[in-house]
Amino acid sequence: MVHPDTDSKREQVRILIVDDDAAVRNAIGMLLREEGYDTTLVDNAEAALEMARAEEYPLVISDMRMPGKDGAWLRDRLHEARPDTAIIMLTAFGDTEAAVEALHKGATDYLLKPPRVTDLIRAIEQALSKRRLEQARQRYRTSLERRVRDRTAELQQALQDLETTYSTTLWALVAALDAREQEVSNHSQRVVRFTLAIAGRLGVAEKELPDLGRGALLHDIGKIGITDSILLKPGKLTEEEWVVMRTHPQIGFDILKAIPFLGAPAEIVLAHQERFDGKGYPRGLKGDALPLGARVFAVADTYDAITSDRPYRKRQSPEAACAEISRCSGTQFDPMCVEAFLSIPVAELEALARPTTVPPI
Ligand SMILES: [Fe+2]
Repeated sequence: MVHPDTDSKREQVRILIVDDDAAVRNAIGMLLREEGYDTTLVDNAEAALEMARAEEYPLVISDMRMPGKDGAWLRDRLHEARPDTAIIMLTAFGDTEAAVEALHKGATDYLLKPPRVTDLIRAIEQALSKRRLEQARQRYRTSLERRVRDRTAELQQALQDLETTYSTTLWALVAALDAREQEVSNHSQRVVRFTLAIAGRLGVAEKELPDLGRGALLHDIGKIGITDSILLKPGKLTEEEWVVMRTHPQIGFDILKAIPFLGAPAEIVLAHQERFDGKGYPRGLKGDALPLGARVFAVADTYDAITSDRPYRKRQSPEAACAEISRCSGTQFDPMCVEAFLSIPVAELEALARPTTVPPI
């Protein structure tokens, strides 16, 4: 006896039956209709594929050998067009090889012709249950993938927010420092922009630019540890005062070195007063021993210093600044960085110097 629940479920199952032999086709169709399935009969593989493309059939029962396109052809096309479709192949006695191949290539099951009713029903139920299981697996996989995607996006957003928070904090810190020195407004932003522009010309990898920018931004952070009487002294510093003043790169480095994401910028801070010819401080590093970021920064900082008004002198033209930087190539500055800097048109330098509300890093 058929359970009413199963019966009602069966009525919804649509089965496409493909066989060139009308007698077999009709016999199977009638049999399955009696069992409560919704059957559609078709006599060739091409017509079957067309129908399966137009409407979804959870199950296709197809003869293996048919004139024209055969069952194997239909199985392969269905596999592409309707990967969810369960396929039962009907094979003639002695055609076991073809049947095994059919299974390997994606058929759900095979039956010898003519199939016995019980075998046919069992094969159909097994194929449909296998299909439901596969669909459930697929739904689970899809939902898992979606969850992973959502969580990854959330994580990326959180990292982005964190990065923005870091960045904003650094800018606030530098603004506080600039305020203490009554520094020319936007000096830090400009130096960062020039540094990034030169680094870009040098072909520095995109992912390394934030470190260079942060090194430039924080270069004088160590001045926080220099007493007001020296830092803000209006006149010239004595030799003893210079000794104190020259400790600011080391103080800056010591402040930053414990912060993991500022490791590379800390090295630039420590080296920002060095010179290419080794006559800088605190370590007297020479040439390539200097971090590239520090060599780039030196050019950017000098350009900004010359082209900005200072309490003790008026600003000079970009051309004059470029001439001075060119003159110091190989002594104060790395010639490679000078060349990259000089390749930036003056109009671009002037554009970079204009204040904007968007921090460059
Ligand atoms: Fe400095």
